[in-house]
Amino acid sequence: MSDPILEVRNLHVHFDTYDGTAEVINGVDFTLDEGETAALVGETGCGKSVTVKSVMGLVPEATIPEGEIIYKGQNVLDLSDAERHARRGREMSMIMQDPMTSLNPVLTVGEQMTDVLKWQGQPRMSVTSWVRDKLDRGSDAEYRERAVEMLSDVEISAPERVFESYPAELSGGMRQRVLIAIALLSEPDLLIADEPGTALDVTTEAKVLDLLDELVEERNTSVLYITHDLGVAREVSDRINVMYAGEIVEQAPTADLFADPQHPYTRGLLDSIPSLSTGIGDGIAGHLPDYTDAPEACRFADRCPHAQPECREAYPYPRETGDDHNVACHLFEGRPAHDRHADLAADPVDIGVPPWEASDASSESDAVADGGSHS
Ligand SMILES: Nc1ncnc2c1ncn2[C@@H]1O[C@H](COP(=O)(O)OP(=O)(O)O)[C@@H](O)[C@H]1O
Ligand code: SF4
Ligand SMILES: [Mg+2]
Repeated sequence: MSDPILEVRNLHVHFDTYDGTAEVINGVDFTLDEGETAALVGETGCGKSVTVKSVMGLVPEATIPEGEIIYKGQNVLDLSDAERHARRGREMSMIMQDPMTSLNPVLTVGEQMTDVLKWQGQPRMSVTSWVRDKLDRGSDAEYRERAVEMLSDVEISAPERVFESYPAELSGGMRQRVLIAIALLSEPDLLIADEPGTALDVTTEAKVLDLLDELVEERNTSVLYITHDLGVAREVSDRINVMYAGEIVEQAPTADLFADPQHPYTRGLLDSIPSLSTGIGDGIAGHLPDYTDAPEACRFADRCPHAQPECREAYPYPRETGDDHNVACHLFEGRPAHDRHADLAADPVDIGVPPWEASDASSESDAVADGGSHS
């Protein structure tokens, strides 16, 4: 097994709002190994972007009361702003959710790409030095060549023309390719793709995903892929982390998660993809809790078809239910998934076994009983 490039441990992220403190991210743990693609999956508003922006150091308005974000063995929360800034681009890059707002509308694609090549890993520059640099364009030929090459790598057919274009002159699919090109330009070791297909139609999205896959494969880049769609996560990732209301409720290698989905939320997500339906329930009614007043125990209890009174009293800490498979739900037993919850094993909450397993078991024993009565 390769070394982890990124380990997020017990991450908590809060925002001060007019309604009080929004405790959005509530003890998130996940690991991304070198060269691996891991997905973070959950419905809109569950905290995916806040999590990855925290990794990138892009939520200055948030407080992080607890947790560690360990990149290549070092907790980046211990670094100064300048040190984190220097890592962005050179070490880690992010493709943002919305290509229109993450490109600068007043600069051409070429100017933005040249800036990345020139300034990655450099300390923040002053406006005057940036303007002075813009006036001195003599040394840009080399950057231009690399940028144009990268545009053609992301299969933009007229890279020279796109290099000269402003973002508003390009289609959505083209802008998303430009963002991928910009993110890959500095050859980052870690690429975070935050719903890179959302602004695109299905066909273009599939093409962009294939392309991204190919490019990261070639460069052995580690990828954290954010999506609200388990079907997309299945296509692109080696491991899946399912997130609900700022917590990881289930994590497993992709094949295992689909072979044996356990958390009621994961099963509900699968039911919303008709071809992957578990046949239990019809998706998930209801909505995410208010983060300024989130339930103390299971955050999913209001929407869970299997909720018991205990689920509203005792917090469902994640447990290891199989090899590398963790689930945070009282329906499952197992060793606590994280050392900090080690004392839990002595005091499990018993709400019975998952109803779908109970009905599997009883239909099997019925079959045996039937078989017996006929012989
Ligand atoms: N700067 C902020 N101030 C207050 N709340 C925020 C801020 N940024 C995000 N949130 C809240 O955090 C929650 C999770 O948001 P987000 O991470 O964007 O969800 P996702 O990416 O999963 O759709 C949302 O309820 C959102 O309103
Ligand atoms: S802990 Fe209870 S409410 Fe929460 S997901 Fe499990 S069964 Fe449902
Ligand atoms: Mg988001």
